[in-house]
Amino acid sequence: MFAVEMRGIVKRFGDLVANDHINFELKQGEVHALLGENGAGKTTLMRILYGLYHADEGSIFVNGQQVSITSPKDAIALGIGMVSQHFTLVPPLTVAENVVLGYNPGIRLNPQQIQRRVAEAAERFGIEVKSDALVRHLSVGERQRVEILKALYRNARVLIMDEPTAVLVPQEVDILFETLLRLQREGLSVVFISHKLNEVMTICDRITVLRNGKNVGTVFKQDVSQSKLAQMMVGRETFGVTRQGERIQGEPVLRIENVSAVDNKGLPALKSVSLEVASGEILGIAGVSGNGQSELTHVLSGTMKPTSGKILVDGQDITGADPATITCAGVGRIPEDRHGGVVGELTVAENMTLETLDEYTQNGMLDRKRMLEYTNTLIEEFQIKARPTDRARTLSGGNMQKLILARTLARQPKVVLAAQPTRGLDVGATEYVRKKLLEQRERGAAVLLISEDLDEIMALSDRIAVIYEGKIVGILDAHEATPEKLGLLMTGAREVVSHA
Ligand SMILES: Nc1ncnc2c1ncn2[C@@H]1O[C@H](COP(=O)(O)OP(=O)(O)OP(=O)(O)O)[C@@H](O)[C@H]1O
Ligand SMILES: [Mg+2]
Repeated sequence: MFAVEMRGIVKRFGDLVANDHINFELKQGEVHALLGENGAGKTTLMRILYGLYHADEGSIFVNGQQVSITSPKDAIALGIGMVSQHFTLVPPLTVAENVVLGYNPGIRLNPQQIQRRVAEAAERFGIEVKSDALVRHLSVGERQRVEILKALYRNARVLIMDEPTAVLVPQEVDILFETLLRLQREGLSVVFISHKLNEVMTICDRITVLRNGKNVGTVFKQDVSQSKLAQMMVGRETFGVTRQGERIQGEPVLRIENVSAVDNKGLPALKSVSLEVASGEILGIAGVSGNGQSELTHVLSGTMKPTSGKILVDGQDITGADPATITCAGVGRIPEDRHGGVVGELTVAENMTLETLDEYTQNGMLDRKRMLEYTNTLIEEFQIKARPTDRARTLSGGNMQKLILARTLARQPKVVLAAQPTRGLDVGATEYVRKKLLEQRERGAAVLLISEDLDEIMALSDRIAVIYEGKIVGILDAHEATPEKLGLLMTGAREVVSHA
């Protein structure tokens, strides 16, 4: 008997078939990975199980009983919990209040009782959170633990986790895995969605691969390799994308001189950062998340003002300028949070032309026909799976990222600022984005690549700068950089000799 069995699930959005007769079986007490390219239908299938979407066809069985799940309330009553990528917690409330919110098994509790019950539950499930802390003071990893606790508090026996590690730093991933393995031993069944094959191979017992809305196979971990999984996902062999050839020493295009900035709590986040990026090179910024990467991106994008220092693009001073001015100066941005980079309620065409609307406006009238033509060209060139009239929010992560790439790169910027450009993307989309960045280098753009993925940094960068506690603690040429050297610098060891 399965904890969950989904049979013949079909889900259509208009004429798109997101789930095409999917069978999926979750055994009691297993961690089961759901793998597949962006848009393969993973989230859709799990949203159906959690009652957020309704299947057009198919049936669901929980512990052998056929069930009808019409809302998350039904799912929770059946012992199914879901931790989504975008947390649903209420920041001004405490952890305890969030955990019990909306869950009333008939009893009214006072704040002390709530606090105590939640603290007890946290203890029982071995989840480290302070029940009286305000959620808005918690890190992303801690918020995720609150979400897990919330599900367990509602007696979840099945936990769905949609890309839980995409937002975590390596240490937090370790904590999450320990927690999941412990809960698994106590009988919890987990559906684990991730694009990171090494994680899947670490934590999961079985793996189901979706492609184009179809289940292309369920396998035991010990029967497959990472490359076999990648092949199942994309239907072809994948090859790593790496930089070829020596850097052509161009002129410095982006100059960052002694830039300092404070974070949103007023604490120093960038401490006198100086960097130069030349035409035709990729400068990678390596570092553990939270060491000033976000602030550096914001300062260079015009969404945060530096407290001192200077930023020059091709000699033009853009220090403290607004985003529009910086775009005009020739900086193209691929933002860290792609959901912030597009407006979900607007169409693909509108998002494509968002930054250049005045070019499509004549006498106060929007030239929609030209906008659509332009969008169609880019959709074709960048192989985006979407129509110009689709709302941006309906795009999968990979296609949303392609939209941003298309919008940014079509303008041939002098400087490309890429922050975590492949986070949450599948193998194929990741390869695609990396290829595009290398094309920019070939074209002579100055590319600043900020990434927490060390493999990515090493595969693409001509030079690698390491940021630690807001300071550049070393700059290495690609050929002298090793993961060990970079790792040491990333954790603050200062004795590694650095070269310009
Ligand atoms: N609410 C919606 N309206 C219209 N289309 C949707 C909606 N939700 C999903 N889709 C479409 O259904 C398909 C499957 O999307 P889904 O989000 O399930 O993919 P996924 O496998 O989770 O991808 P990713 O790895 O990028 O998260 C995509 O083509 C997507 O654009
Ligand atoms: Mg998804």
